[in-house]
Amino acid sequence: MKHEYPENFSRFYDTIYKKMRDGTDSEYFHDLIRETEGKILETGVGTGRHFIRALKDGADIYGIDISRSMLNVLYKKLDKKEHHRISLQSMVDFSFDFRFNLVLAPFRVFMHLIEKEEQIMALNNVYKHLVPGGRFIFDAFVPDTGILHQGIDQQTDFDDEYEPGKRLKRIVTSMPDLVNQVLNILFRLEWEEDEGIKAEEWGVPMRFFFRYELEHLIERSDFEDYSIIGDYKGSPLHKDSKEFIIICKKLSS
Ligand SMILES: C[S@@+](CC[C@H](N)C(=O)[O-])C[C@H]1O[C@@H](n2cnc3c(N)ncnc32)[C@H](O)[C@@H]1O
Repeated sequence: MKHEYPENFSRFYDTIYKKMRDGTDSEYFHDLIRETEGKILETGVGTGRHFIRALKDGADIYGIDISRSMLNVLYKKLDKKEHHRISLQSMVDFSFDFRFNLVLAPFRVFMHLIEKEEQIMALNNVYKHLVPGGRFIFDAFVPDTGILHQGIDQQTDFDDEYEPGKRLKRIVTSMPDLVNQVLNILFRLEWEEDEGIKAEEWGVPMRFFFRYELEHLIERSDFEDYSIIGDYKGSPLHKDSKEFIIICKKLSS
């Protein structure tokens, strides 16, 4: 099932994640992009948080996403001659008539795939679109046992101006469903407009993974080789890791 970002959540995405996320993962993904020769695909490209900088650096990068409203934000940042690089497609069944040296799914894109069938389809579809020796790199958070046990109850995780004199607030509630391995997340945005205060809510499930489920999943897929690291600096997994960064490799021949 697809869970598209609603318009106002796309509208405020950059404001929120520039502050909450850029410093965490940007350099890791940009180093990968810089060291890659050939074509790159970002699945779940969103508003282009990584894509725009990659393109400016000269990368031959393409982007797909299932959320029309996220892509609309991205189109506005792009020169018309680059629009062909972006398309409304899912990582589960996207199609290109060329292959990529590197495919990325940065910042929880894979966690939007709830069912194991669509996860395997996505992995195999990415595999099919890689050149021999190509890599697919995606991330997932290591489940926090406190959140799995108690959830999060209306926590304000962003409260700042989105433009001079206008406040934006985001309140997060997270309800764990252990049997289905899903965190049901409810985001509430409250923001000031000239006419007064507006509010909107959006509920989205996120599939969480433990290490050995990820390993079994990839071993069921067409990928012949993989490794998992524990942070965006390249550290090996250890008992306090907060991230799974999964590097899937297609053999050279
Ligand atoms: C948290 S955002 C990450 C955006 C961007 N990669 C970044 O790092 O800022 C997750 C994105 O994944 C997209 N997405 C969710 N399911 C998807 C799917 N099946 N195929 C492609 N994109 C998907 C969402 O629409 C959203 O734009």
